[in-house]
Amino acid sequence: MRIILLGPPGAGKGTQAERLVKKYNLPHISTGDIFRAAIKAGTELGKQAKEYMDRGELVPDDLVVSIVKARLTEPDTAGGYLLDGFPRTKAQAEALDASLQELNTPLTGVINIDVAQEELLERLTGRRVCRGCGATYHIKFNPSTVRSVCDKCGGELYQRDDDTIETVKQRLEVYHRQTEPLIAYYQQQGILHSVDGAQEIDEVFQEIVQFLDKFVNS
Ligand code: AP5
Ligand code: MG
Ligand code: ZN
Repeated sequence: MRIILLGPPGAGKGTQAERLVKKYNLPHISTGDIFRAAIKAGTELGKQAKEYMDRGELVPDDLVVSIVKARLTEPDTAGGYLLDGFPRTKAQAEALDASLQELNTPLTGVINIDVAQEELLERLTGRRVCRGCGATYHIKFNPSTVRSVCDKCGGELYQRDDDTIETVKQRLEVYHRQTEPLIAYYQQQGILHSVDGAQEIDEVFQEIVQFLDKFVNS
C-alpha cells in the first residue's frame, strides 16, 4: 500500500501513523520528523529547515521533494509506505505524481483527516512528544501514565518549538492557503477518502482501517 495522510496541523496524522504502520508493517515517512531529526543532528539540512519551521512556514518545495524522492528509492519502501505531512503544496503533489509514474507505483489512496479549526489549537498547544521514541501524547486527550514520561520507552516528553499559539496560528493559515487545495486535487484523481478526525483516537483509527483493509494486498 502506498498511502498519504493529509490533514491540517494537529489533525492526528502522526498519531494515526504510529498505529497504522504497526498494523500494516509499512515505513512511516514524515517530512516533519525528517527535518526535526536533521535539526537535532545539527546538519546543514536541519539549519535550513529550522528557519522555516520556527516561523510556521513551509520548507521550500525543491528541498522537500528531493528528500522524499531519495527516500522512496530506499529498499524498505518496495512493499509500500505511509507518507505523513507530504505532499503539502500542489507543486509537491505534482512532483510526487511524476516520480511515481516513472517508478510505475501509483498511490493506493489519500486519507484526509478532517478536523474543525477550533479543535486544532487545543490539540497542538497540549501536545507532548517523546524525545526517545517520538511517540505523541496530549496532556488532556491522550496523557501518559506518569507526567512527562513516555509509557513506551520511559523517555522524557517535550513540547515542540512550533507548538506555541503564535506559530500554530501561522501554520493553520499556511495550511489553508497551500495544503487544503490538495483535497480537491486528489478528489479529482478519485483516490481521496475523508475520515471524521474529531472522533476519539481509536474511532478514527477504526475508520481508516476499514478503508485500508480493502487494499491489504496491493
Ligand atoms: P509536521 O511535523 O508535519 O507538522 P504538521 O503538519 O503541522 O502536523 P502536526 O505534526 O503538527 O500534526 P499531526 O496531524 O501529526 O497531529 P498529531 O497526531 O501529532 O511539520 C512541521 C513543519 O515542518 C511544517 O510546519 C513545515 O515547516 C515543515 N514541513 C514538514 N513537511 C513539509 C512539507 N511537505 N513541505 C514543506 N514543509 C514541510 O496530534 C496532535 C495532538 O492531538 C497530539 O497531542 C495528539 O495526542 C492529539 N490527538 C490526535 N488525535 C486526536 C483525537 N482524535 N482526539 C483528540 N486528540 C487527538
Ligand atoms: Mg505530525
Ligand atoms: Zn518514548
